Amino acid sequence: MKIAVLGGGGFRVPMVYGALLARAERLGLEQVALYDLEEGRLAQIAPVLEGLERERGTRLAFSSTTRLDDALDGADFVFCAIRVGNLEGRVVDERVPLDEGVVGQETTGPGGLCFALRTVPVMVDVARRVAERAPQAWFVNFTNPAGLVTEAIRAELGDRAVGICDSPAGLCRRVAAALGRRPEELWFDYFGLNHLGWLRGVYDGERDLLPGLLADDALLASFEEGRLFGGEWLRSLGMIPNRAPSSSFVNRPRSTARTGARRKLHSRRGGQRAGSARRRTSPRRTPPQAYPRRTTTGRTSAATRARRWRSSRRSRSTSGAS
Ligand SMILES: NC(=O)c1ccc[n+]([C@@H]2O[C@H](COP(=O)([O-])OP(=O)(O)OC[C@H]3O[C@@H](n4cnc5c(N)ncnc54)[C@H](O)[C@@H]3O)[C@@H](O)[C@H]2O)c1
Repeated sequence: MKIAVLGGGGFRVPMVYGALLARAERLGLEQVALYDLEEGRLAQIAPVLEGLERERGTRLAFSSTTRLDDALDGADFVFCAIRVGNLEGRVVDERVPLDEGVVGQETTGPGGLCFALRTVPVMVDVARRVAERAPQAWFVNFTNPAGLVTEAIRAELGDRAVGICDSPAGLCRRVAAALGRRPEELWFDYFGLNHLGWLRGVYDGERDLLPGLLADDALLASFEEGRLFGGEWLRSLGMIPNRAPSSSFVNRPRSTARTGARRKLHSRRGGQRAGSARRRTSPRRTPPQAYPRRTTTGRTSAATRARRWRSSRRSRSTSGAS
């Protein structure tokens, strides 16, 4: 079996390769083809992967190429994590919205839309090449904004394209650790897409452990999202938001130097820009009442959803489906 990794010069590639190395035999994986636009990045990644092989005492053949077709030919799976516009693009996507007092993030808000405008056309081209060169391959998309990008490439690849995001699972793992539990013992009621999501229930059987967690400031202080949002705000929400857009919800006050620079710009432009005078919104400054509290009805329906999920899981396992 062959896997093509698009964005093969990315900094997460050693982690991906390490995971493949550990499972290569069980999966029947024989070959990894790394593809990237930048030869220099591929050249830097190769010795890291060789080091991993030496460290683990296992081998998994890999090759590097700047020719997409070479990577795709014969591929059974395509894993795609590219950053169109590189980090320079991300800086603009995130800083410009933040300067205007709105969400500055690469998957949501104006930053996410700008990233999508750059990325979707490139990804549609990639998907067309995959359809041509590796028509049987499964396409696993990690490229952000993962929701929009996956929707676009599914028009070319249909159900063979799947979008994935590691941040919901990360939040669930941290919450389980805060509760002193293993994630596989619990059922997580998480809703949302990619980086815009909320954890609204953590079930141990019929019992929701989330209200207890939200009531305990010491437990909340033991994990990232708990510290970031703080007990008061989390209790007003009755849920835990995904941390990715949190940096945008919790806007930092503008520094004096920056405000001064913008004022100068404002006066140079003859007062046309009102950006520096614009008031920023921040939940830290917004009364908790502004956010909807979870209602009793909401709690009941979450428990019902958990029950239904468990019973559908039972019926899937008895019918032999996975
Ligand atoms: N879905 C998720 O949970 C999740 C989590 C983290 C990152 N991401 C996304 O994964 C992608 C990669 O992120 P990263 O931080 O690993 O980036 P990175 O900058 O480390 O690597 C990206 C690589 O893509 C290459 N590249 C850029 N445009 C390309 C193109 N058109 N064709 C081929 N290669 C190209 C770059 O040369 C670079 O080597 C981004 O879109 C990022 O938003 C998704």
